[in-house]
Amino acid sequence: MARRQVVLVTGAGGEMGHGLIDRLADMEGYDVLGLDIKRLNPEVEKRCTSTIVGDVLDDRLLDRLVSEFEIHAIFHLAALLSTRSEFTPETAHEVNVRGTLNLLKLGVEQSRWHGRRVKFLFPSSIAAFGMPNLETKRSVGRVLEDQFNLPTTMYGCNKLYCEHLGFYYANHYRQLAVDDKPQGVDFRSIRFPGLVSAFTVPHGGTSDYGPEMLHAAARGEPYACFVRPDTQISFMAMPDAIDALLALMEAPAEDLTRHVYNITAFAPTAEDFARLVREHFEKAEITFEPDERRQGIVDSWPADVDDSAARRDWGFSPQYDLQRAFADYLVPNIRRRYE
Ligand code: SER
Repeated sequence: MARRQVVLVTGAGGEMGHGLIDRLADMEGYDVLGLDIKRLNPEVEKRCTSTIVGDVLDDRLLDRLVSEFEIHAIFHLAALLSTRSEFTPETAHEVNVRGTLNLLKLGVEQSRWHGRRVKFLFPSSIAAFGMPNLETKRSVGRVLEDQFNLPTTMYGCNKLYCEHLGFYYANHYRQLAVDDKPQGVDFRSIRFPGLVSAFTVPHGGTSDYGPEMLHAAARGEPYACFVRPDTQISFMAMPDAIDALLALMEAPAEDLTRHVYNITAFAPTAEDFARLVREHFEKAEITFEPDERRQGIVDSWPADVDDSAARRDWGFSPQYDLQRAFADYLVPNIRRRYE
C-alpha cells in the first residue's frame, strides 16, 4: 500500500499553525497533515489534506502515522508557552520535551523509511536566553545565539534543551551503530521573538501584552498591561515569522552554518507599543499594572537579538518594521476582524 506523502504540522490549531498551514496549502507539492490536541477550526481544517486529533505524547498515535503517511518534513509547533508552563512545570516538561523527543524519533524513523533526512523545523524562542539582571540587559543590547543561555523559565529550559536534542538527532544519533542508513534528521530551528498576529491572540505566553493590548483596543475594551512601560523585548509580525520558517526550510543545507538562528524585526518598549495602538485606535484605554512575577520573566529576556547569522546564511529579511506592521498588516486586518 502506498503511503501518502505529507508535511506534518503539530500544534496545527495554534497561532503559528494557523499562519503556516495557510501558506503551505498554497505551495506546490505540500500536502499538510495537521495534528492538534483539539479539533481544528474549519478554516484551518479545510487547508489540510488530512487532520488528526491527538496528543504528541501518544506513542501509539505516532506509530500509526508511520504506517499511514510518508512524512518529508515536520514542523513541530506544539508547546505550552512560558506563563502557562510556570503553573504546571512538570506537564510543560512532558509536552515540550517528551513531545519533541517523540517527534524527533518519528523523524528518524521516517528518514530510514524513505532514505532522505526528514527536515525538522523547530520554533525555539527568546525565552531560551536568561539575562542575569536588568542592568546587563540594558547595557548589552543585541545578544548572539550562544550568549546568556541561562533561561529562568521551564519553557525556556525546555526550548534550549530541545535545541540541543535537535543537534544530537541531526549529528550524533546512535553514533555507535554500524549500519549506513541515514541516521538523523535535518534539524533547523529559529529563536522567535514575541509574535503578533492580526488573526489570532496568543494563549499562555509572557510576550502576550503586545498582542493583547492591540486586540483589546480593536474590540473597544480597556487593557491593563502586565509589564512596566519601559519593558523591552523584540517582536515580529506573524507573516514574517511564517516566511522565516519557510525560508529556513528551503535553504540549501550547505549554506547553513548553525542549527539554531536568532531572528528579530523590531524591539519596542511596551510604551512604544501602547503609543502606536493609541495612534491607530484613538479610544484605546491602556493602563500599566505590572505583575511583578511576569515582569521578572520578560526582564530575563534580551532587549533585542543579533540575527546576522540568519541574514547571512538564508537571507532572512523581515518585510515589516514596527510602523509598517501596524499600518499595513495589523490594523487593517484587525479592524476587519472585529467590525
Ligand atoms: N511568546 C512566547 C511566550 O511568551 C515566547 O516564545 O511564551
